Parts: sequence; C-alpha cells; structure tokens
Amino acid sequence: MKTRLEEPQDIRQQIWKELGRASQDRHHEWRTPVLATVGSDGAANARTVVLREVDLKAQTLHIFTDARSAKVQELKHQAHAVLVFWSKRLSWQLRVRACITIQTHGPEVEALWDRVKQSAAAGDYLSPVAPGSLSASTKVKTGDANQHHFTLLTAKVVDMDWLELGREGHRRAKIGADTWDWLAP
Ligand SMILES: Cc1cc2nc3c(=O)[nH]c(=O)nc-3n(C[C@H](O)[C@H](O)[C@H](O)COP(=O)(O)O)c2cc1C
Repeated sequence: MKTRLEEPQDIRQQIWKELGRASQDRHHEWRTPVLATVGSDGAANARTVVLREVDLKAQTLHIFTDARSAKVQELKHQAHAVLVFWSKRLSWQLRVRACITIQTHGPEVEALWDRVKQSAAAGDYLSPVAPGSLSASTKVKTGDANQHHFTLLTAKVVDMDWLELGREGHRRAKIGADTWDWLAP
C-alpha cells in the first residue's frame, strides 16, 4: 500500500516529482493533461496535450503545438489557462492555473525543432494545412522542414489545486508558490 504523505512540503515535492516523471515516461497518467483555454468570444475550449518538459526551478511546464492551432489563437487573447491532470494510480487530480507564453521562433524553438524534425511527429508541424481547417482527405502532404509551424508553449505555474481521493477521506489543497491552504474537498 502507498504511504500517505502528510506534510505539505512532502506532498508539494511529490507532485513535482510526478510531473517530472510524466514528462519522461509516456505511460505515466499525467503525460497527457487537458489544457483549457478561453477564446476571444469568452467561450471555453479544452483539449488533450502531451507534457513534454518540466522545470522545477522555473516552475514551468512545456507543451509542443502548431502555431496555427486554435489554442495558440486563444492563448494570444488570454494567456491564463488551466491544465488538468488525473492519475488513477495516485488517486490525484491536479488542476494547474498557469500563464502561458508562446514561442514560434528563437534558439530554444529551433533546438527543439532539430530534435522533433527527425521524429515521426515532424509531419504534424510541416503540413501546409492548418490544424482544424476543413479537410477533403485524411492524407496530409508534408512541406519543407525549414517552414515548420512548431511552437513551444511555456506554462508558468500560478497555483495548483490538488485533490486526493482516498478511502479514509478525500484531501484538497490550494498550493501557491509559497503558500499552502487545506480546502474542503
Ligand atoms: C493523447 C493526445 C495527445 C495530444 N497531444 C497534443 C500536443 O502535445 N499538442 C497539440 O497541439 N495537440 C495535441 N493533441 C491534439 C489536441 O488534443 C487537439 O486535437 C489539437 O491540438 C487541436 O486543438 P485546438 O484546435 O484546440 O488547438 C493530442 C491529442 C491526443 C488525443
């Protein structure tokens, strides 16, 4: 049986450890959170993404996407977004409020693209057809590797809402950079 962590600093440390693991392990349940954004019309939108990198020191989470996607347009309008993670193994839900910056160019993006362009995912960022545009066929042509739409999203954590489901009772906390508040679940 898992040991139940009691101290806020231990729970906080374990949350970041699990996020780090999820960015490395494709089988970790936190690998694929849901990213929720708000459009310019005020409507909510949400979709699954892959957690690619985690930087504990900077308190940031990294996601890759296409510059032409709806989420990028929505984030340009409203940088505040929410990432929702659920793990059955941990019985933990984590809702991360974050402020997201969008990078489409620059040395960091090009270094990541150099890696991604050699992978099977490269075609996702080379298609001449923007994601979400009406499509006549499921066959997608790939373009020139220098004309990519690869984009790095950096989510700077604002705060977290952690919920643990447990037999002996549920626990919930609001976790800020230097704060911890236990909440009624
Ligand atoms: C398991 C899974 C992982 C996904 N990972 C990503 C991702 O890392 N980045 C991304 O842009 N889209 C990813 N997608 C696709 C998105 O969920 C979404 O369909 C697409 O990005 C278009 O979203 P948008 O129109 O809201 O921008 C993933 C979908 C699934 C099912």
